[in-house]
Amino acid sequence: MSKINRKAIQADVEVLSNKKVGAYHHMVFAVGDMALHARPGNFVAISVGGNNSSMILRRAFAIYRSSDRGQYGGTIELVVAPHGQGSKWLTGLQIHDQVNMVAPLGTSFGIPTEPVNALLIGGGYGSAPLFGLAEVLKERGCRVDMILGASTAGKIYAPLEGKRSVNSLTVTTEDGATGVKGRVTDVMSELIDKHNAEIVYSCGPMAMLSAVNEIARTHNLVHQCAVEESMACGIGVCMTCVLPVKDNDGVVKMLRSCIDGPVMDGERVIWNSSRKIPEGTWGS
Ligand SMILES: Cc1cc2nc3c(=O)[nH]c(=O)nc-3n(C[C@H](O)[C@H](O)[C@H](O)COP(=O)(O)OP(=O)(O)OC[C@H]3O[C@@H](n4cnc5c(N)ncnc54)[C@H](O)[C@@H]3O)c2cc1C
Ligand code: FES
Repeated sequence: MSKINRKAIQADVEVLSNKKVGAYHHMVFAVGDMALHARPGNFVAISVGGNNSSMILRRAFAIYRSSDRGQYGGTIELVVAPHGQGSKWLTGLQIHDQVNMVAPLGTSFGIPTEPVNALLIGGGYGSAPLFGLAEVLKERGCRVDMILGASTAGKIYAPLEGKRSVNSLTVTTEDGATGVKGRVTDVMSELIDKHNAEIVYSCGPMAMLSAVNEIARTHNLVHQCAVEESMACGIGVCMTCVLPVKDNDGVVKMLRSCIDGPVMDGERVIWNSSRKIPEGTWGS
């Protein structure tokens, strides 16, 4: 049975910076030793709303970047979309405010031991963990091509330093405001062929991950995806985040995406379950 990330630490951490970038907020936190073991794909769970909040559920955010050295010691960076009550509260914080954070949580992207050609695909703020991943893959000698998609230009998060860590960046927007008009999947096959991609990494809404998996399968490529199921506790206790996944033994089980994920083998996820427990699932 999977367990919570053994490196996870819970602490009050300080906001070092909070800047609006397009539709998002880029936030930096001074986290001390929490940053030591953070890997691309891991996430943080933040207690939102302050001491007197009725918002008891922590909110999960993918780690955009982490650093264990520098002026402020360990830092963790997030890209947050002010969406509902919790994320609006978080993005409203000022420098030196404190939040309670648990991190690093969940599984991380697997890194090939040999240099390979990798295609990274992000939807909306799903690009956040992919830039840190791109840096690690480049250090391993991999070729890294990236596709980022969103409904419109302001929802593409692609900072300059991130662009430098990839060999090519293709942007798609549904309204055509920037890049290619359409979805990430409209350009995916062409780029797989053009760059001889050998592995696909993705992060974004579940419908996008499912469509990406379909195309990766037709090209016979390994696909690692960071799933984004709604989470309540983030630490494996509440079962809010379960989804059907074929386990190592071939049996479909309802796995917790906060501890068995968020990074999963795309081929093992049962994408067409329509949020129901598929027949034959272990224990059903
Ligand atoms: C692994 C992961 C990574 C994420 N990364 C990012 C990121 O990088 N940037 C970003 O902006 N957002 C990210 N999110 C989304 C983020 O966690 C919040 O869901 C989002 O910000 C909306 O939260 P809110 O408080 O603003 O909205 P609200 O509407 O106030 O609350 C939504 C929250 O309610 C809870 N919830 C919803 N439905 C249920 C349910 N059925 N049962 C129990 N609890 C429920 C969940 O905790 C959910 O996060 C990520 C989510 C996951 C799971
Ligand atoms: S979010 Fe509670 S078990 Fe995964």
